[in-house]
Amino acid sequence: MGPANSAGPHAHGSAPAPESIRLVQISDAHFGRDPNFEFDGVNPRRSLACLIGQIRREEAGMDAILATGDLSHDASPESYIALREALQPLEAPVFCIPGNHDDPETMQRYLTGGRVVCPQAAQLGDWHLIFLSTYLQGSQGGRLGTRRLAALDAALSAWPQRHALIAMHHPPVPIGSPWMDAMGLEDSEDFFAVLDRHPQVRGVLWGHIHQEVETQRNGVGLWGAPSTCVQFKPGATRYERDDRAAGHRRLILCSDGRIRTRVVRQGSGDAQA
Ligand SMILES: [Fe+2]
Repeated sequence: MGPANSAGPHAHGSAPAPESIRLVQISDAHFGRDPNFEFDGVNPRRSLACLIGQIRREEAGMDAILATGDLSHDASPESYIALREALQPLEAPVFCIPGNHDDPETMQRYLTGGRVVCPQAAQLGDWHLIFLSTYLQGSQGGRLGTRRLAALDAALSAWPQRHALIAMHHPPVPIGSPWMDAMGLEDSEDFFAVLDRHPQVRGVLWGHIHQEVETQRNGVGLWGAPSTCVQFKPGATRYERDDRAAGHRRLILCSDGRIRTRVVRQGSGDAQA
């Protein structure tokens, strides 16, 4: 898994408790090479710009942002450069993970800079954040594979006393939407076998599904996030756009291992958890 990035929580006056870590998850930005590119009638750049304005207003004092894949729609350098610029107003580090629409090498090269980074892990307060790539070249689905599963196991073994939160792109559980469930995480059983050996894992976050999901397995919270642009209709058997607003997921990680989280939709005026 390589050396962990260290990013200490900065001072913030509005956190609900001094020991809490405040995170924001954004996902599936789908930036295109062309600034006027639209994903089913939504311009991803304009949609994210609105959302970032809302996050800056309503999530002041956040410790980090997690961007969970499909950050580009076409994996072009231009899309990553535009996204890097769009993310700079956020006043916290942005931890990025690739999705199936991304190209990990192009993303690493053109997206990183300033506050935007693509680390494998970060330590925040009592918490160990792990960023897992499920990228599988040529597939819309994801797979961890033996090497990344072994790295996950080693990272969790190295920090048994820290609460762990794992972020990735593909969902490790079916979400009840057959067309999406056909492109989930192929080796989710192996993934959960690793988690079962490490009781400090408190939660798993993902994107990919462009909709909100909340469930749990063996006491581990499992959460899917909406997209920052187009939403997909829950329960649909094939692609169907949902009219819900774009949004982000707010997370508060408590020092006792609890996670408080909810999705905040654009324009909801929802300032607090
Ligand atoms: Fe996506």
